Parts: sequence; C-alpha cells; structure tokens
Amino acid sequence: MRTQVGIIGAGPAGLVLAHLLHLRGVDSVVLERHTRAHIESRIRAGVLEQGTVELLCDIGLGERLMGERMVHSGLELLFDGVGHRVPLKELTGYQVTIYGQHELVKDLVAARLATGRPLLFGVSDVTVDPAGTIRFVHDGKPVELECDLIAGCDGFHGVSRSVIPKPVVFEHVYPYAWLGVLAEAPPSSEELIYAHHAAGFALHSMRSPQLTRLYLQVDPDDSLESWPAARIWEQLRLRLSRVDTDWRLADGPIIEQSITGLRSFVVDPMQHDRLFLAGDAAHIVPATGAKGLNLAIADVVALDACHASGRLASYSDICLRRVWRVQHFSWWMTSMLHRVPDPFAAHLQLSQLRYLTSSTAAATSFAENYVGLPLNR
Ligand code: APR
Ligand code: PHB
Repeated sequence: MRTQVGIIGAGPAGLVLAHLLHLRGVDSVVLERHTRAHIESRIRAGVLEQGTVELLCDIGLGERLMGERMVHSGLELLFDGVGHRVPLKELTGYQVTIYGQHELVKDLVAARLATGRPLLFGVSDVTVDPAGTIRFVHDGKPVELECDLIAGCDGFHGVSRSVIPKPVVFEHVYPYAWLGVLAEAPPSSEELIYAHHAAGFALHSMRSPQLTRLYLQVDPDDSLESWPAARIWEQLRLRLSRVDTDWRLADGPIIEQSITGLRSFVVDPMQHDRLFLAGDAAHIVPATGAKGLNLAIADVVALDACHASGRLASYSDICLRRVWRVQHFSWWMTSMLHRVPDPFAAHLQLSQLRYLTSSTAAATSFAENYVGLPLNR
C-alpha cells in the first residue's frame, strides 16, 4: 500500500491534518487503534480559540460547531470568595468557543468519511520506520504502508515519538490532578469560573444549556472511590462559594467522571527524517489554560503549510516557538490557581490574582494568551 501522507491517530490533530491535505489534493491514510464509537464519546476539554474556530470554518468543518457552540466573551477569576470578570473580548477583540472535543471529533470523522479517503479503525501493532514505512495489522492482516511523509498524531501514549533518535525531553509533573465530572445540570454561570480556594482549585465549565462540566483539584494518587458524588458536590459548593452574593451551584446526576494528572511535556525536535509529530504526541500542557486541542491544531496547520511550501525542515522550529509560549502560559496559570502547601507561595498567588484583576495591562496580557496567538497559516 502507498500513500503520500500516513497519519497515525484519529484525534483532532490527525483528522484536521487529513482534511487540510485533502483540500490540497494530497492523499493520506489515517490509522486509529480504537473504534469510531470510542473516539466519538471520549470526554476531553472543550475550549476552542477563535483562531481554531475560524480555521475550522474556513476549511468547511464549522457548520454544526457554529450552530451548537457557546461563545464566551469573558471569564471569571474567583478568589477570596469574590468573582472578578476578565472581559476577554473587550481587552483583545477575541472570544472563545465552548464545544466539546468529542463533538468536534464527530464532525471531523464525518468529514473524513465523506471524502471517501481511508480512515481505518481498530488497527494494531503499529510500528514506524521514519524513512517512510508504517507497518500495522488491520482486519487480522499485516499491512505495510509506504509514505512520502508520516504524521505522528497518536497522542501522548502513541508509538511514533519513540522513533525520534535522542530527542531532548522536557517534563514537569505537578503535585496535583484534576477530578473532572460531567453533570446533568444547567450551568450556574454564563461564563467559565476559575476558582482559587484554600481547599483547592475548582473550575466551572459547561457543554450545553443542560450539561455542566466541573473540575476539582485532587491529589494525584486519589482514586474515584475516594470521591463519591456527595463529596464532589460538597467540595464544588465550598470552592465555588462567594461571600458577596447568594449564588448557588446547581447540581444533578454525574454522568461521567475521571481523574487526570497535570503535566507539562515537550519533545525537541518534533521531526526526524520523514516523520513529523503533531499534538499530544509531541507535547502536553496542563489543562488549566485549555490549550491542548488548540495547540494540536496549530501544529497540523503548520505541517500542512510547510508541506505545501517545501519548508518541512522548519516545521519543528515553527511549532516549538508557539509550544513554549503556550507551555509558559499554561504553567503560569496552573501555578497561580492551585492550592500549594507553602504559605509564601500562596501569598504570591493572591497578589498575582489581585494584580491581574485590577491592572488593565496585566489583564490584557492574560487575555491575549488565553484567547490564543494567530495561526501560522
Ligand atoms: N496506533 C493508532 N492510533 C493510535 C495509536 C497507535 N499506536 N496510539 C494512539 N492512537 C490514537 C489514539 O487512540 C487517539 O485517538 O491517536 C489518537 C490521538 O488523539 P489525541 O489523544 O486526542 O491527541 P491529539 O489529536 O494530539 O489531540 C490533542 O488536546 O485537549 C487535548 O489531550 C487532549 O486529545 C487532546 C489533545
Ligand atoms: C473544559 O470545559 O473542559 C475546560 C474548560 C477550561 C479549561 C479546561 C477545561 O481551562
């Protein structure tokens, strides 16, 4: 079997790349180890930068997104029991979109299948030869796929990163994790609320007028058994409580929950020979800045542009500039909001939050990073 671009992984990175290539008449084969049902129901983050939304619309993938999304022109930082709105749009001209990643994956899978180009689910035993061959098993048969280029879009636990010889790896593991829950309850606020609280960080987000997405800072070695629903709601009510209003958090049945550790990770370079890594395969950011999905899409936009212009040698450098800006922002936001045992550090956090919510310059800098950099298209 032969193709121009072999794409490993049908997450947002792999599927958006496949579509960008398709629009340029470049053929590709997408390989995914899970089933379609699995990838379409996997609950992940849900914040899209305006640049991401504009790209998706420009390439014809924005129809359902534009109809179903929730647009936010600001967010709230809550500390010492008082909420402070950061008016993102007023400060930057940009807004953010709330749309579940798995909803986007559904749109991307449908678009790929509509092109008639191959998207193979349930592949196993994938191995990568960076000189241009992917070997895998599909429908019980071994396949050898010759490619001009291989895109390693197989996420943090994929196989492609391991064939980069002697990369420099940067890693930071945070001493906390997030317990995320999806609840059948109407959102209790029109915008996202990031809460700094002595009991730990909490985040109020949403997926639709009927579904609230909530997160709690927990210990990395906590298990779901130690977090029964009653404890989750009690901690959410506590951490999101306010001294200045009688705001109440609506609750409801929890339909999904998981615990995820927070980490920062970068591999440098992101390419070797004919292999190019994109998205979580090359870097992980802590979820606090809601950047993972946006960064993955920025990578594949750059990969497509470098491929089109014959500048593939610059791909890694182009991506890593953005990756490090986003790493810094995500680390900074994470460090500012999570409970830390050291009282000195806790004072610095509160001072930073007060500065951020009282200085237009500081708020603008935060907002500029939160809404995202323009894409290298
Ligand atoms: N063979 C085939 N497919 C694989 C393999 C493999 N060996 N290993 C992993 N995959 C698939 C996974 O099943 C997954 O569907 O690769 C895909 C990678 O997708 P994501 O993990 O979603 O990564 P990416 O596309 O880079 O998306 C960026 O942003 O919000 C964050 O982490 C979140 O998934 C999100 C990411
Ligand atoms: C989410 O809705 O899943 C979400 C929102 C904001 C974040 C992280 C996750 O910072």
